[in-house]
Amino acid sequence: MRFPFDAKPVLKWAGGKQSLADRLIRYFPTDFSRYYEPFIGGGSVLLALQPQRAVIGDLNDWLLDTYLALRDDESRVARHLDAMINTREEFERIRRVDPSGLDPFQRAAHLIYLNKTCFRGLFRVNRKGQFNVPYGAYDRRYYDPANLASVAACLRGVEIRHADFELCLADASGDDFVYMDPPYYKQGGYSDFDRYTRWKFRENDHVRLAALCRELDLRGVRWALSNSDTPFVRDLFQGYTTHAISTRREINLNSQERDIDELLITNYGDNIHKD
Ligand SMILES: C[S@@+](CC[C@H](N)C(=O)[O-])C[C@H]1O[C@@H](n2cnc3c(N)ncnc32)[C@H](O)[C@@H]1O
Repeated sequence: MRFPFDAKPVLKWAGGKQSLADRLIRYFPTDFSRYYEPFIGGGSVLLALQPQRAVIGDLNDWLLDTYLALRDDESRVARHLDAMINTREEFERIRRVDPSGLDPFQRAAHLIYLNKTCFRGLFRVNRKGQFNVPYGAYDRRYYDPANLASVAACLRGVEIRHADFELCLADASGDDFVYMDPPYYKQGGYSDFDRYTRWKFRENDHVRLAALCRELDLRGVRWALSNSDTPFVRDLFQGYTTHAISTRREINLNSQERDIDELLITNYGDNIHKD
């Protein structure tokens, strides 16, 4: 562990692992050279782990540009955020701005602002890549300057790759460790992720990912992967170690709660620090 920072994600992300991150990293090895996380999303696992050396990736360019801007100079992002106010009018105005025309620091501030002030705080874009979530009207601070600085410190020295997972992991080698949190496979339907962005993660992508895992295994790279506990996923990763991770979620409108299991699949044994 490199930093004594208490750093939380600056963005709320579909499928975010914030509530599970501390539990998941107990299953990770401690003796690796580089840490790879090719589906970084809100980054909760990276921030919980705070590895010495890391490579992160994602297909979402607005998200990765935000991490780049924070890594390079979070105070410039903070200055933009300080100038924005949490009102419906301001939200509507900012939502209409095309982010591709903004400088990197302002672009980052717009994503953080929209993510934190929109309804239920979820990033979602339409087919044209425009942010299309309505205003949330939440009376709360939309960012914490101290946390922003901690996240920026955690990102220093992290290599950020805007790439498909295969490309992101192309140079992972023997001493490295990879954690993968792809959009989950949903039985008989689309994955969670499909509802929130213009990119789809289809059955074929899960098959592609499983093939890559087998290849990484042959290259001696250790990896851990999260996915839903479904026959499809269990079948794809047959032969590897599976840990059932229980999560508590609200199931229906009557607020009845039930444990749901998801899987953490690893290509290394049970020789890890779990308590
Ligand atoms: C379930 S989220 C990861 C959540 C993250 N662990 C967290 O705690 O916030 C999955 C991420 O995968 C990214 N993604 C989807 N398809 C991808 C692909 N083919 N290559 C790389 N990233 C992809 C999405 O943009 C999304 O951010």
